Amino acid sequence: MAPRRNPFDYGGPVSGSQFAGRKAEVAGVVHRMSDHIGVVVTAPRRYGKSSLIRQACVELEQHRPEPAVVSVNLLQTGSLATAAGSLLHRLYQVPGGPWHRLKQVLPGFLRRVRIQPATSFDQNGHPVFTFPAGLAPADLSGVIDDVYEILDEIGARRPAVLFLDEFQAVTDLDAHLPQRLKALADEYRRVSLVLAGSKEHLMESLVISRGAPLYNMLERFNLGPIPEEDWVPFLLRRARAGGKPFADEAVARALWQVAGPVPFDVQRLAYESFNQAGDRIVEAVLRQATAEIIHHDAVDYARTFENLSAGQRRVLKALAGDVTSTPGSAEFAGAVGLADSTSVRKALKALTEAEIVVRRDQGIAVDDPFFAAWLRGTGGAS
Ligand SMILES: Nc1ncnc2c1ncn2[C@@H]1O[C@H](COP(=O)(O)OP(=O)(O)OP(=O)(O)O)[C@@H](O)[C@H]1O
Ligand SMILES: [Mg+2]
Repeated sequence: MAPRRNPFDYGGPVSGSQFAGRKAEVAGVVHRMSDHIGVVVTAPRRYGKSSLIRQACVELEQHRPEPAVVSVNLLQTGSLATAAGSLLHRLYQVPGGPWHRLKQVLPGFLRRVRIQPATSFDQNGHPVFTFPAGLAPADLSGVIDDVYEILDEIGARRPAVLFLDEFQAVTDLDAHLPQRLKALADEYRRVSLVLAGSKEHLMESLVISRGAPLYNMLERFNLGPIPEEDWVPFLLRRARAGGKPFADEAVARALWQVAGPVPFDVQRLAYESFNQAGDRIVEAVLRQATAEIIHHDAVDYARTFENLSAGQRRVLKALAGDVTSTPGSAEFAGAVGLADSTSVRKALKALTEAEIVVRRDQGIAVDDPFFAAWLRGTGGAS
């Protein structure tokens, strides 16, 4: 018998039946997109920023007239030349773009672009545009001006959205791009500029804080965890739809508690639990699934741990374990064998920058609950 298809997904952005909760945020983003108002979504890694925008686009598409959405992930593009090519690639595919009415569609489209890229075609027959790496940033950012201008023209009749994901990486492409985007957003008022990013301090300096280039331009949505009352019905519904229901609601709640606040971790544990289960997901399956995930990642965990200093390792183990004193206290410093709270602060800074630990409402915690479980177990025995 073919294995049942797993109804959970933790591979990348999710939408539709894979999307839980966040109703108010989705509605808020959909309204802003329809009204040509810019949006910035901030949250730590894997909280569901990209998913939120994807879901908002799905819901926006249910409205007539059909929206024009151009989206690019700045971390994936890696260079300004690639980003410019990707923007054109996505823009060209916008349904009902004015160039589609032209006799010579592609040359007509390229006439609107000031610098001519080399053109090839992907496996779907869509044109791929390539700019030589040596082009000056000013020339390449002119291509972004062109994309903005065309979207603005489309925006006269229907929602037009420019979505730049992983925006915290923008200055790696071009230090002047944030200022340029500010000028474009001021000039072209019929485009909703949508940004998403993690790395709070970078997003602060680009968008949020007074003096940031995009300060006060965009409506901010800062995502927290998805609450239990949204997760539990979602988990129950998906597992039932997949053909292996939870034994009862308490097991679904226990799964949510083990996985912690990050949506990615909840879906990952749900995915593995579904795989491990017989006919139903019972309490023991959660332990099996957790053990399986830890086993799968143990080599990475060990490597991460080995690359830390001895002090950082002890701080990390204390955070994962049962040391209850606050990390700022002298008691904590003593418990982890560091000279004083300044040394603890230094260790925490390094661990935070490496995104191993995070600051949450309840205090500082190990980000990955399975890494924390590894640290509590035999992992990192010292
Ligand atoms: N609303 C949601 N409902 C259900 N699962 C979600 C939701 N949001 C996120 N997830 C889960 O988290 C995973 C990561 O989501 P997503 O890629 O949107 O996060 P992100 O914040 O954009 O992450 P990154 O910081 O890596 O860009 C998804 O694959 C999914 O498993
Ligand atoms: Mg993302």
